[in-house]
Amino acid sequence: MMRIDIITVVPGLLDGPFSHSILKRAEEKGLATVKVHNLRDYATGKQKQVDDYAFGGGAGMVMMIEPIAKCIQELQSERDYDEIIYLTPDGSTFNQNMANELSLKGNLMMLCGHYKGVDERVRQRFITKEISIGDFVLSGGELAAAVLADAIIRLIPGVLNDETSALTDSFQDGLLAPPVFTRPAEYEGMKVPEILLSGHQAKIEDWRFEQSVRRTQERRPDLMDRKDF
Ligand code: ADE
Repeated sequence: MMRIDIITVVPGLLDGPFSHSILKRAEEKGLATVKVHNLRDYATGKQKQVDDYAFGGGAGMVMMIEPIAKCIQELQSERDYDEIIYLTPDGSTFNQNMANELSLKGNLMMLCGHYKGVDERVRQRFITKEISIGDFVLSGGELAAAVLADAIIRLIPGVLNDETSALTDSFQDGLLAPPVFTRPAEYEGMKVPEILLSGHQAKIEDWRFEQSVRRTQERRPDLMDRKDF
């Protein structure tokens, strides 16, 4: 069973994503579990302080190393972690390859930054991977952690009902997914491509592959450059 521990100052932000749909089913099937830890529980002193002014001045608070260290070390004393991931806009951009690799791991820890981020020494001492979900800035790492957890957990065998459906996702073969249709076969004059109604499975697969290639060429030529056909 995969275990993901998420450390945050806003645990409420993560209530929603993990109590619904696929992630909930993964928990119920005993395939994955996500535990959210409130960093404030690891803060010392009356104020339960987790952030402080930046040395050298400037706007914005910085998350202090001590509460984070305490939380990480407590978790590490209970099990070994394959990766300790810090969600940050200056990390490597997340993609399907990274999701595939992480879905093979047993225990993952994710640290969500807030304010101006964490004291650099947290990154030096504890973090094994720094990941961004794109070139934009969120108000904290929580939604990014939820994105990672979703992309990873759905790849664990048995989580999706139809075992093959993750294999036909966009990016899984380096291409975007082909268009899909369902009933009715005609809507206000718009017809579903004839081939899909033909029952010729091999021809349908050829058509889907062609559509994938065309769609990728049109929308994401950068992906085509990485493939040789
Ligand atoms: N925290 C703030 N912005 C982020 C981003 N784009 N990716 C990951 N974590 C973040």
